[in-house]
Amino acid sequence: MTKPIPVILDGDPGHDDAIAWVLAKASPQLKILAVTSVCGNQTIEKTTYNTRRIMALIGLDVPVAKGDPRPLIAEPIIAPVVHGQSGLDGPPLPEPKTELSPLSAVELMAQTIADSEEPVTLIPTGPLTNVAKLLLAHPDLKPKIARISLMGGGVRMGNWTPAAEFNILVDPHAARLVFRSGIPITMAGLDVTEKALVCPEDFGRIRAVGNPVAVTVADWLEFFYQFHKTMDYPGAPIHDAVAVAALVKPEILTAREMYVDVEVSGDYCMGCTVGDWYGTSGHAPNATVLLDIRREAFVDLLVEAVKTYGEVE
Ligand code: RIB
Ligand code: CA
Repeated sequence: MTKPIPVILDGDPGHDDAIAWVLAKASPQLKILAVTSVCGNQTIEKTTYNTRRIMALIGLDVPVAKGDPRPLIAEPIIAPVVHGQSGLDGPPLPEPKTELSPLSAVELMAQTIADSEEPVTLIPTGPLTNVAKLLLAHPDLKPKIARISLMGGGVRMGNWTPAAEFNILVDPHAARLVFRSGIPITMAGLDVTEKALVCPEDFGRIRAVGNPVAVTVADWLEFFYQFHKTMDYPGAPIHDAVAVAALVKPEILTAREMYVDVEVSGDYCMGCTVGDWYGTSGHAPNATVLLDIRREAFVDLLVEAVKTYGEVE
């Protein structure tokens, strides 16, 4: 068994962030050092409260810190139509158990990375505001960031606009800074995450595991699917969990190395992640862009993950 990868979870929970964190905590390949919240699916107050409730549910007691109330430059965008007014509507959750760090999200990230013996992998599953601010405030820490495995973008499509995926659109300036940082990036964009579908027939497999985490995940899936059903999806796209799967089960994914940059202006293309498929930009690839996933293996991964939270006889 190789040493576990030290990681920081950074997200805007959000149903798929929550499921991604259930997977991360269940994965022996990862050692979660800290968790940070970012505004995105909901306001920073709500995503921070949700972050701490998820941590209580899955028994994750590590330092946790709150991000800023807004992106670097753009105005905040929230997504209640997808995740509800709380940002994590659906099943009841325990109250927070872990106190909020007095540090900001960026400073907790910086301290965690500085104190780690090994370079740390970041797993941002919301807008990239915290990661960008970390790189701006602590450029000296870049050599200690092993990789950024992010959910965001799409080199073929958007979802919040025709050109832009939500996480990138919320903070395109942060995203451009991250993609231009020179740090190795794994990009779990819509190209792959729209195929990472958990379908209604799969919900029962997860619920049947029977422990409180499994039942809560099944309830989150039911809620999250309601919006996507109206968009004719055959299942719920668990976008954020792909950024974790890329680290714990890369063999179920197909990728292509390419140069990716982010549009930060334009009436139609603001927030678009432009992928250089054929190397015509003159730039060397800066991202491992995930393009396909073995869906059944992905669902199996989630089923096995919830089982680690206790089998119910
Ligand atoms: O576009 C999907 C992304 O936006 C996911 O991270 C989801 O949680 C929302 O943040
Ligand atoms: Ca998210």
